[in-house]
Amino acid sequence: MIVRFNTSKYSINTLTNTMIKRLIFYFKITSTLFSQVNFDSQIQPILQVNCTSCHISGGSATLDLSSYDGIMNGGWSGPAIIPGNQDSSLLYMRIILPEGYPGSMPPNNPLSQNEIDLIGQWINEGAILRSDNEKNHPVTFSFHQNYPNPFNPFTMLHYTLSQNNDVKIIIYDIMGKQVRNLVETYQSAGDHIIKWDATNDRGQFVPAGLYPYKIVMGDFTQMGKMMFLK
Ligand code: HEC
Repeated sequence: MIVRFNTSKYSINTLTNTMIKRLIFYFKITSTLFSQVNFDSQIQPILQVNCTSCHISGGSATLDLSSYDGIMNGGWSGPAIIPGNQDSSLLYMRIILPEGYPGSMPPNNPLSQNEIDLIGQWINEGAILRSDNEKNHPVTFSFHQNYPNPFNPFTMLHYTLSQNNDVKIIIYDIMGKQVRNLVETYQSAGDHIIKWDATNDRGQFVPAGLYPYKIVMGDFTQMGKMMFLK
């Protein structure tokens, strides 16, 4: 009896611990995926203070860091930002180099770790122009939860654009890593249905699980989740 009692007590504790750990885990993911960096109020000011003394059109460096368009146009060696991927973005590679290392940016007075993290997060979130646009922009599309959900072997994303727009749909795994760049194109106004067959960018099937996704239309962003069952 005593042994039994101990066993069940132990398993309840384990269960509670697991549940708490899981809750913390989901909370972390949610806050990473849903807290969005605002370009105008958080990123441009960092570049204004630290970079535009050289990086401005007509300045000593070719890459113009004084505006969103300038940044996205890139410098003489090509794009400075790869939306969704800080580690392949030249700008990010340069700001994380140690001070004094050839090519490290800014050449003197390195950015603080907070500033570097913020820029990295902005890139990983898709390097969009703004994110609190819901307040400033009229809604120019309607978007429906994927169907079916949960799904196997495929699901559909359905949305309506009220005007022609750039559309991007990125699917992540639960760790926030990009799994599939599903759509990245200019689309015409009207109804669109996009199918996801649970494969990643390399055409392989993903494991069963929860897949957060981000849909960006112009400068409007919305998140959702899909559940793939096996
Ligand atoms: C004191 C001047 C100066 C400052 C300040 C400076 N840079 Fe630079 N940067 C340069 C020069 C010079 C080059 C190389 C030549 C070029 O791009 O034309 C360069 C190159 C770069 C490149 C590579 C561009 C390419 O296409 O090869 C990136 C990215 C970059 N800088 C980012 C930054 C960022 C981000 C900041 C601010 C956080 C910054 N730089 C601050 C002078 C500066």
